Amino acid sequence: MELKKEIEKLKRERNAVVLAHNYQIQEVQEVADFVGDSLELARLSQKVNAKVIVFAGVYFMAETAKILNPEKTVLIPEKDARCPMADMVTAEEVRKLRKRYPDAAFVAYVNTNADVKAEVDIICTSANAVKVVESLPQKRIVFLPDKNLAHWVSLNTDKEIIPFYGYCYVHQDFDPEKIKQLKKEHPQALVLVHPEADPEVVALADQVLSTSGMLRYVEKSSAEEFIVVTEEGLLEMLRRKHPEKKILSPGMKGICRDMKKISLNSVYTSLKEMRYPVEVPEEVARRARKSIKRMLEIS
Ligand code: 13P
Ligand code: SF4
Repeated sequence: MELKKEIEKLKRERNAVVLAHNYQIQEVQEVADFVGDSLELARLSQKVNAKVIVFAGVYFMAETAKILNPEKTVLIPEKDARCPMADMVTAEEVRKLRKRYPDAAFVAYVNTNADVKAEVDIICTSANAVKVVESLPQKRIVFLPDKNLAHWVSLNTDKEIIPFYGYCYVHQDFDPEKIKQLKKEHPQALVLVHPEADPEVVALADQVLSTSGMLRYVEKSSAEEFIVVTEEGLLEMLRRKHPEKKILSPGMKGICRDMKKISLNSVYTSLKEMRYPVEVPEEVARRARKSIKRMLEIS
């Protein structure tokens, strides 16, 4: 309780806001001014009237907020909170692929580093990937780094999707057989799946949604049971918001170790000591900003 009060005080003193991703632990979400998915948080970062943004999420999210707000100080409470998938593709690899597919448009998932965003035509998130791809004039699309999101997009467009081989270890591990078994035990349950999951798991879904898409869907649905295939933090959030509904884990708990590195204590220290500031070299930021803004304009 004391720590929460101190955080609120520091927020006022520093003219700071805390943005938190849906996978953050409950007590971090409780001190956040906004909680959302990658797309909502990128958008919100541009709307908040504050000098300092403390980003409780993984590095690429804080970096995206910094690129969109070069005049603001953006802090990440744990500098090692990174998304392993974002590190699976490099800018050099994108440049090589450009030579191999000169007629293709290049789309990067937001889960990439700034120098990769700087090399592509546009970025997307799990909430708008199909829309982004459909907005492009090219018929061939190189989609990176997530092979599973690329596959989901390919099912929803006539364009040729050339996938990269990245993946999220948290979502890759869900077992389709366990989900089938759970569905047998709970035939009324709707299966909600994040598009980072394996195609075999996605094939079992009633709905394929971003994290905030799942929150909205459960809120509006009259169904009472859901098998929710994504990181555990989202399931915990759903259980808090809807104690009247049954939220079932898909055979195992998916935990994103990097999202969980951030604690109430590290948010407090971040505000107190103004650490860790996110910096992006201006030349990279300028080109990455183009890809991010192009996405924000169409979605
Ligand atoms: P959302 O944009 O759907 O919140 O997903 C971010 C993410 O990293 C999922 O693993
Ligand atoms: Fe990256 Fe997967 Fe963690 Fe999302 S859940 S931040 S994709 S490692």
